[in-house]
Amino acid sequence: MEKRDELYRGKAKTVYHTDDSDKLILLFRNDTSAFDGEKIEQLDRKGEVNNKFNHFIMTKLEEAGIATQVESLLSDTESLVKKLDMIPVECVVRNVAAGSLVRRLGVEEGQLLNPPVFEFFLKNDALHDPMVNDYHIESFGWATAAQVARMKELTFAVNDVLKALFDQGGMILVDYKLEFGVDSAGNIVLGDEFTPDGCRLWDKETRKKMDKDRFRQGLGSVVETYIEVAERLGLKL
Ligand code: TMP
Repeated sequence: MEKRDELYRGKAKTVYHTDDSDKLILLFRNDTSAFDGEKIEQLDRKGEVNNKFNHFIMTKLEEAGIATQVESLLSDTESLVKKLDMIPVECVVRNVAAGSLVRRLGVEEGQLLNPPVFEFFLKNDALHDPMVNDYHIESFGWATAAQVARMKELTFAVNDVLKALFDQGGMILVDYKLEFGVDSAGNIVLGDEFTPDGCRLWDKETRKKMDKDRFRQGLGSVVETYIEVAERLGLKL
């Protein structure tokens, strides 16, 4: 597999073409971003930890029958993935109230959400990822009604698998963000990443924050805590 030119540089990952037109390389950088790129720092080893963590989680999801973009680990910081036509929305599921939900609705952080809440956000840093609904997505042609339904179905399927997995490691999956794309056969496939950068995880007993809120809130020990999350799931880094 030969790495070719850069296709896209995001805030924490860079995407490269390869000599296979159906495959891309994702490079996980140490860059860590919060507040839509307002706060960016380099955290030692984060690229490696997130690359391996993402591969581990995506493999668990594949084993549960959820199609993902991931093909294989190529190096400490790179993964080979299927090329997808990405849908420019973020799918968020919340099992417990936190983050922007608490700010938006004035509800108490930590409140259990039953049923879990589903939200769509438009991927647009300049607009601070505004919340959108099914109608915006269909009217503006970002995805079809069938694709919207499939993204919701898959996002909840991920919840069933990962809530149980993190629970076994003594953690609560508070909320998370997924991104989907369309593969060459027209199927909706899970893309981007699942790492502690894109979810909230709390220790079940102490409620210690074990995700990117440590970086957002300046709590320290960011990568060390991501490594602890991985180790609790049985992934040695
Ligand atoms: P929020 O509470 O800020 O809306 O975030 C909900 C979850 O989605 C949280 O786990 C963080 C994740 N998320 C991202 O990873 N990137 C984003 O751009 C947004 C809006 C949320």
